Amino acid sequence: MEEGSWIRRMFEEGIALKQRYGAENVFDLSLGNPVMEPPVEFAQELKRLAENPLPGMHGYMENAGYPETREAVAAQLAQETGIRLAGKDVIMTCGAAGAINVVLKTILNEGDEVILFVPWFVDYHNYVNNHGGVAKVIPTDEQFMPRLDVLEAGIGPKTKAVIINSPNNPTGVVYNEELIHGLGELLSAKGVQYGTDIFLISDEPYRRIIYDGLKYPSPLNHYPQSIIVTSHSKDLSLAGERIGYIALHPDCPQHEEMMNGFIFCNRTLGFINAPALMQHLVRRLQQATVSVADYQRKRDFLYGHLVDLGYAVIKPQGAFYMFPKSPLADDVAFVRELQQWQVLTVPGRGFGSPGYFRLAYCVEDRVLEGSLAGFRKVAEKFGMGR
Ligand SMILES: Cc1ncc(COP(=O)(O)O)c(C=O)c1O
Repeated sequence: MEEGSWIRRMFEEGIALKQRYGAENVFDLSLGNPVMEPPVEFAQELKRLAENPLPGMHGYMENAGYPETREAVAAQLAQETGIRLAGKDVIMTCGAAGAINVVLKTILNEGDEVILFVPWFVDYHNYVNNHGGVAKVIPTDEQFMPRLDVLEAGIGPKTKAVIINSPNNPTGVVYNEELIHGLGELLSAKGVQYGTDIFLISDEPYRRIIYDGLKYPSPLNHYPQSIIVTSHSKDLSLAGERIGYIALHPDCPQHEEMMNGFIFCNRTLGFINAPALMQHLVRRLQQATVSVADYQRKRDFLYGHLVDLGYAVIKPQGAFYMFPKSPLADDVAFVRELQQWQVLTVPGRGFGSPGYFRLAYCVEDRVLEGSLAGFRKVAEKFGMGR
């Protein structure tokens, strides 16, 4: 709890700062809680459903979710990837977090290893621990990209899964097609070498928040033992509603057993099924998203100013985070400097990468604009950009 609490700690310190200086004078870039409201289609669907209730729409259902919703999700994924997914390949879950826990509960035996890349989403460690697994952490290159040779050295007979997250929290990088293809080939070869199954768990809550016209390269196109875990927390701004899904590659060798495992674990972990009302709603919203153009504009604004001020930062291609280098080796000390100017960020060590800090720019424009004075003051103090 102590190790994993950086984001929360910053958030709580932010509350104290807001009480002291007034909320409008505190520039909180610490939390990935999207400021954008769900798209208008969401309210329209909600109204339509309230006025035309379906019989039994709030009752129990199959643990996997409503067949119509599973089919709608599968159709959307099939359209995006060209892979022939059907409702039988999808189960609805309580967010991406619920989906990851269901998958890990299903596939892990005590002591199995799960590979994570640095920097990581902090709760991956907790999820792996929940189900008796052992997290194995692998570094990435200076662009935050996994290196296949380094990964290869980290895979052994106990490796049960590799978790990837692209677009990435905290860096905003998107893995390219070549890397995903290479990953698929490597995992296939290693599975054959050890006579094991190695699953590629692709955590994709930011899949549709992607910039500059990039196309999202899906692991489904490169590896049959791919498991997609995702949610509508970010692309429809429904984080509090807890709606997501698991999609298993239709060609996964143990498909039926795996799906039965997911369905069983969705029940026995206590989720039972994903929220009924949300399943009714997202069924018709598979083509909708929040305004990605707005997030891209926020990215351009913050990235442009930070670079001008002398910060070293890799330009994010998706999600709504940036992960600049801390000008001080001690990222916590640097985050404290920014705090002096009421700018709240999270030290990189909270993601396994000391020497960096994370900004979440899914906030109102006035917060981004207001934060610039603090970034400038601190840049001046440390002689950056000279
Ligand atoms: C990388 C990543 N995975 C999973 C989650 C959890 O998503 P959900 O709220 O849909 O469970 C988040 C939430 O911020 C995330 O950033």
